[in-house]
Order: sequence, then structure tokens, then C-alpha cells
Amino acid sequence: MLKLATQSLFVLSLCHFAGIAMADTSPREAVATGRIEKIGAGIVAFLPQGMKAYPASLTLVKAPVLQGQPPSGWAIKPQFVRSGAGSRVIVQIPAGADLYGTGEVTGPLRRNGSTITLWNTDNFEYARESGHQLYQSHPWVLGVRKDGSAFGVLFDSTWRAELDTGQRIVFASSGPPMPVIVIDRASPQAVLQGLAELTGKMPLPPRWALGYQQSRWSYTPDTHVLEIADEFRRRKIPVDVIWMDIDYMDGFRVFTFSAKDFPDPKRLNNALHERGFHSVWMIDPGVKFDPGYKVYDSGTAHDVWVKDAQGGEYHGEVWPGEVAYPDFTMPATRSWWSALYKGFMAQGVDGVWNDMNEPSVFKVPSMTMPDDNWHRGGGELSPGSHLQYHNVYGMLMAQATRDGIQAALPDRRPFVLTRANFLGGQRYAATWTGDNTSTWEHLKMSIPMSINLGLSGQPFSGPDIGGFSGEATADLWANWIAVGAFYPFSRGHTIKAAQQKEPWAFGPAVENTARIAIERRYRLLPYLYTLFHDASVNGMPVMQPVFFADPRDLSLRSEAQAFLLGRDLLVVPAWARQPALPKGIWRKVSLIEGEVADPHQAALKLRGGAILPLGRVVQNTHEESLDPLTLLVCLDADGEAQGSLYEDAGEGYGYRRGDYRLTRYRAQRQGDTVHVSIAGSDGKRRASSRDIVVQVVTDDGVFTGKGPDGQVVVPLRSPH
Ligand code: NOJ
Repeated sequence: MLKLATQSLFVLSLCHFAGIAMADTSPREAVATGRIEKIGAGIVAFLPQGMKAYPASLTLVKAPVLQGQPPSGWAIKPQFVRSGAGSRVIVQIPAGADLYGTGEVTGPLRRNGSTITLWNTDNFEYARESGHQLYQSHPWVLGVRKDGSAFGVLFDSTWRAELDTGQRIVFASSGPPMPVIVIDRASPQAVLQGLAELTGKMPLPPRWALGYQQSRWSYTPDTHVLEIADEFRRRKIPVDVIWMDIDYMDGFRVFTFSAKDFPDPKRLNNALHERGFHSVWMIDPGVKFDPGYKVYDSGTAHDVWVKDAQGGEYHGEVWPGEVAYPDFTMPATRSWWSALYKGFMAQGVDGVWNDMNEPSVFKVPSMTMPDDNWHRGGGELSPGSHLQYHNVYGMLMAQATRDGIQAALPDRRPFVLTRANFLGGQRYAATWTGDNTSTWEHLKMSIPMSINLGLSGQPFSGPDIGGFSGEATADLWANWIAVGAFYPFSRGHTIKAAQQKEPWAFGPAVENTARIAIERRYRLLPYLYTLFHDASVNGMPVMQPVFFADPRDLSLRSEAQAFLLGRDLLVVPAWARQPALPKGIWRKVSLIEGEVADPHQAALKLRGGAILPLGRVVQNTHEESLDPLTLLVCLDADGEAQGSLYEDAGEGYGYRRGDYRLTRYRAQRQGDTVHVSIAGSDGKRRASSRDIVVQVVTDDGVFTGKGPDGQVVVPLRSPH
């Protein structure tokens, strides 16, 4: 057990309580570490002295089982320090380690030398606090040592905190000492698997959620929604989802529909479904203070509202004017909230968008509730101040939303998008990176932002393609969609005041760029769905940093322009300048005619040794796209390649009862031919009788063969 000599020290540092920078001169006193226990393979929990058992945690998927002594020679040992009313943890990092993760962040991919505040904030244009305090909080740091081995540190506290990733990691919390979990494993991928073991995985989303999605604040009235949908189909630009922002509501009252503009939401949803669209509708947490409005009255009857410090019903101001906020720490509130979705989903709604759930409060300097507002908790959660629960408000809301959708539509996979979230929140919702701007800076930053979210347990994310705030130039929008087609969550969105930002809004040349980019995504859907399945099983990010290709290659550690989709596909934006790319065989591939001539399209490179499953271009994911299935093969230096394809119904839970098929393909060069066979398969879903097209990408061109699935021989003669 690590015993620290008690010492008092005064250190001057900056802290930001209530958004105000001030010198923290509070006395610091070392706190001895209490229990140090193994809780998994290469995972050790450190409890501060006095903490007898691992406390209830909103981050962890289940209570860890304390398994005794850590492995001998365990290197990373956090030190606990009491600091005024709060507490600190200091973690010395190995020399030369590169740091990542820390959730949703602006700035570079590599986090060494940065300080962020973990305090979920409605941060329009990322302008507040120099962008160092955004909509979500992930008290988690991933470290990669020079030799490619890795570690991760999880600070299991929901309180407001500062996370400093400088020469050492310092977690300065406004709350009491918390458990700290350290994962130490052979690679960053193995550490992320450990994080997923602890905090859970993203449940497999419905396949439609992987398609391109179109949003605007707001498409209104309902007839205009259909015009937009029809325009996509007329122009043959693939798309799966259309989004309804707040203006569909009656005076911004959640769970209502404007009688004038959306008089019959069910009819609208039916019409969208007939056109092969799914619809996602916004629900915010603030419930209009409006006695007589049924949601407000029912919330009051169920006694669900957050209280102020005096015990009164707290009111803040958001879109509808004065609102009350559900106290999602209370199990009874979550059940009440979940139940509201029954009637809502019955209107044919497919997915829900939870916004403003930091929670955002207008016209107050902090943009949120007072720290001393009171949450009543329940179940495993003790009552506590807003300072304690603020950071998990959005996650608890997303949890209740997901549960409500699931109860309303038990045979469907819920899709929830949330703006605010917390470490572990991938269990409930996908996310987007809030109110970015239509600027090159934010286009470029979106890549490390989504990568670091993936390195913090959240695989399903992306920014507003084209930028939310401001006008986009045609060139910016073209460049953005060319890359945006490869974000795990791929949605165009924009603020009310801005121009139209649909793919055709910038003229025929940009429309053509958008069509090609989105068609590339649709061809890649079989691969993407396989990656999402992997993520749901083992927590692997879908969008990965280039250094994942070779964690020992130090030259890749800061690369934030290019990125990987899974292990096999490298995406290099057209605007990338001297990107650091992995060594070894990576061959350029082409998926859509016309892409080579388009200067905006990202270069796609396939890893030597990989087989990439591709579908046909379809207009939406309802359409059958796997007949024929194309396998794009890039042999390694030994003339071999492997790849896999996951298939299921794309919706529902049949896959949990075995109705899926995971096919593992193998390619081998034999003289002047490449033989592609099925190396094995899992699942009870019937093998399809389709033909497949195999394309072998070589230095001498692409060689093609066709035949029954698993029995194709490709002669390496006359390339196409
Ligand atoms: C803020 C969200 O970030 C944005 O995406 C949305 O359009 C507006 N709220 C209006 O609902």
C-alpha cells in the first residue's frame, strides 16, 4: 500500500470555479492511498484513505470486484491531495508518453500541455473559456509510451474539475477524493478495450443511423420537410435521415407539435417512411413553466423538478421562456420522462435528439443552474448539489430518453443523439460536437475532436458538417462534405440565420462533390456497419488516429489531418499538408466513378493485408446493397489478406438470438492468381446465395474476378 508522508504545501495555480479564473491558494495536504486493488486484467483501482468500498458510480457499467493485490511492479500510482474544499489527484507520467482522450476538446489531437475544465457548457462557436470547456465531460486520459505500450487513467468523479495534462496529469476536483482507476496494457487498443470493460459499449445502432443525415434549424412547415426529402431523391443524393429541430413544437413546449406547421406528425412520418427516410425529432430538458400545459402539470404532480437552494422549484430561461428542469438524478423522474415517449414515438418518430442538456440556462453568466441547486437522487445516488451532478445531467437525461424509446418500441434499436454527456454515456446516445462555425479552423479541428471522443469511449460522433454558425463558402462546404462522409456520425446541419446548406445549395459542382462523397460512404456501409458492430462488442473506436496503425512509430503520434476508419482504411483529406502516414503497404483505392477527377475528395488508402467489403450505391439503407458484394483486396508482402463482414437485419434484436452472420474472408496469392475464400463464419443467419466481385488492388492496377461467394479466383492479368 502506498503511504504518503503528510505534507502541507501552498501552490499557486489557476482554477476556474463558476467560470471565473482565480488564484487557488488553498492549502494542500497529501491524503494517503487506502486500498489498491486489482479489478481486471491490467486494471487497478486506487481508493483514497477512508474509502472502505468502491462507491456507486455513474461512469462504470457495474461495481468493480476488488480482487486483491495489484500485479508486482505496477508503475502508475496516483497520489491523492486534499485541496481546500476540493481534492486533487496527481499522476506522474512516464517520460515521453503522449496523451490523448479527455473527451470532447478543441485543439490538437495530442493533449500534452493542455488544461480543460470538465463542466458541461453550452459553448456557442466554442467561444467561451477559449474553447477549453465544452458540452461533455470525460475525466479520462489515455497515455501511449514510447514503446507503444499504453495506460489510461480514469478519475471516477462527476464534480466540476480541471484536467491538466502537462508534465504530469493533475485532476483538480471541486468534490471529495474519488476512486482512480489505472489501466496498463500492451497497446492503446488494449487500453480502450479495458475502458469499455469498465464503462460499457455503444449498443449496436440501427443501420439507418449510419447513413447520411440532413438537418437544419429548422425545416418547417411539414410540407417543406417533404420538399427537402424529395429533392434528395430527385437529385439522387443518398440520404437516410431528416431532422426536426425545435420549431416543430407548439411554442417550444416539449412533446407537443405546432398545430399550424406540423398538424399531423404521423402523416409526415409516414410520408417520410414511404420515401425511405427516417426522422429524428428534438426534445430539450427545459419544460415550459405553463400551468395547464400537460407535461408541466404532470411533472409537477410527480414532483420531478430540480429545486433551488431554498427548496423551491428552480426556474431558468431557455427557448420557451421560463422553464422547470426535470431532476434526472431521481429514478422516479427518469421513469416519468421515459413514459412521455410512448405517445411521442407512436407518431412514427424514429429517433430523438436531446439538446440544451448541459443544462443550458439563458441570461445568466454561468449559462447554467446555480451550483447550489439541489438534486434529490435516489436508488444508489445520494442527494447532492448541482456542482456534484451538473456534469451527468445530460447523460442521465439521455439514459431516460433511451429507456423511454426502448419501452415504447421494444423491437427496435433506439437512436438518441445528445449534446451533453459524460464518460460512459456511449451506453445511451451518440453525440455531435455542438455549435461549431463554418470555418476552416473548425473543419480541421473536427477530426481530432471526433478521434479524441473515440479515444474516450464514444465511437459514434461527428460535427455539424459545413459548420453550424455562419455562412459557408462553396469551397469550404465541398471540402467539409468530402471528409464529413467519413465521420462515424455524418450529418449536415446549420443555424437558423445562415444560408441553405443542403448539398445542392452551392451549385452543381459542389453538388457533384457531395454526391460522390456520400456515395462513397454508402459503398462503404458494409465495412462501416462491421466496424460499428466491433465497437459494440469490444469498444474499439470507429474513427481512429493514424498512430493506431503502428503505435511504435513516433512520427504518427500527432497526425490529426488523416485518420483511420477501423484498421484498414486510411482517409487523407484533400487539404492535408504533409500528413504523417503509416509505413508499409497502403494502396489508393477508388470507389466511385468521377472521384479521381474531383479535387475535393479525400484520398482513401487500403492497408496491405486487408479485405474491404463494399456494397452497391443505394439511395438509402432500406435498399438491398449487397448483391453483388464487392471485396476490395490489398495483399500484404506475403501475398495474403483477411477481412470480415458483419450482417444482420439492420434493426431489432434478432442478432442477439443469433440472427446475424459474421463472415471471415481470406485472400491468397497463388502464382498469377488470387484465391478468395471464406475462412469461417459465425451466426445463424443463412448464407446469402449472392455472387461477389473481387477487386485486387496492386501496383500494376486493379484486377477483377467474379463468382459465387467464397470461391473467386482472380487472374492477375489485364487490369481494369
Ligand atoms: C442548439 C443546438 O446546438 C443546435 O444544433 C440547434 O439547432 C439549436 N440548439 C436549436 O434547437
